[in-house]
Amino acid sequence: MGHMGKFESALREISHGDHLWEEHLKYILSGNERGAEIVDKMVTHFTGPLADKRVLDIGCGYGGVCIAAAQQGATVRGIEVGESELKYFALNLEDNNALDTVEITYGDADDIDFMESLGKFDLVVCDNVLEHVPDSHRLIYNIAQAMNEQARCYVTVPNYQSLGQVLMECHNREFGLSLLNRFDAQKLYEARGHYGTYSVGDYFDYNQYIAMFAINGLAAVNIVPVFMEGSHMGEVMDLLAQIKAKRAAMPVEIEIEALTAQHLDHYIDRVERRLAELQRAPTDWRRVEFFRDFMSQRLDFVASHRAY
Ligand SMILES: C[S@@+](CC[C@H](N)C(=O)[O-])C[C@H]1O[C@@H](n2cnc3c(N)ncnc32)[C@H](O)[C@@H]1O
Repeated sequence: MGHMGKFESALREISHGDHLWEEHLKYILSGNERGAEIVDKMVTHFTGPLADKRVLDIGCGYGGVCIAAAQQGATVRGIEVGESELKYFALNLEDNNALDTVEITYGDADDIDFMESLGKFDLVVCDNVLEHVPDSHRLIYNIAQAMNEQARCYVTVPNYQSLGQVLMECHNREFGLSLLNRFDAQKLYEARGHYGTYSVGDYFDYNQYIAMFAINGLAAVNIVPVFMEGSHMGEVMDLLAQIKAKRAAMPVEIEIEALTAQHLDHYIDRVERRLAELQRAPTDWRRVEFFRDFMSQRLDFVASHRAY
């Protein structure tokens, strides 16, 4: 095992001892690696070198993207509202000698005036934040405003209708939760024995996000590789069978479970119709769209201002 820095030691000390915290801790500790991957991908395929460019990371967590961008010579700004993130990010920067090159401050991505005050950037990153804000439309507007004419943005969000997310929503590992709107999700979350506020707002599908980018003058593409090999069909059938078995075992005498079951029935029907369509006419584009919509665990968008 490698040397544990100040950041990791501090987080391990505050461990809450429950399994969700352990999962979350793994996610936090993967932040630098995920950040480096995002920055590498953007530099290699979309932005070119970042030296002397301005990078903004919205909802930057503990600074993974910021550190990687600073290592490439960019001037980096990160904004955050999370208490724990704002308390501990500096230790991560210190462990990575980035205290002098990265500026992370409190900042609400939902606040139009604040976002405007940051100025324009060459690269705007928004990694797993859209689903946490009160208004995804407004955040995409703010992302577009923060991009200079040549800028790219990278936005990633869990794909709520993937079979994997339906089986186990990534934030709280609950079956069916990703299919509910924010209010019903809160009810289900409480009914299943969680306390406090469920931190996820609304999820949208691929076409809805593409439309939100377009309304703000951005042309976006999904860059998650979509699997084409027939062998993955076995995995689809297996996940669908697990969803059906769990659906059949739901305690529908509880009102919110019954509502979730209705959403699940509708969802299963939708997946099966799309499957039937694909089997009837197995064109490449149908296969790509099926795997994008139901197998890809997340949607990764890269967008730029549309040329008119
Ligand atoms: C799932 S975490 C992702 C963190 C980081 N981007 C990463 O991928 O490791 C979502 C982050 O968004 C932040 N966040 C939520 N709402 C926000 C807002 N309105 N403005 C800024 N940050 C926000 C949260 O505090 C949290 O750190």
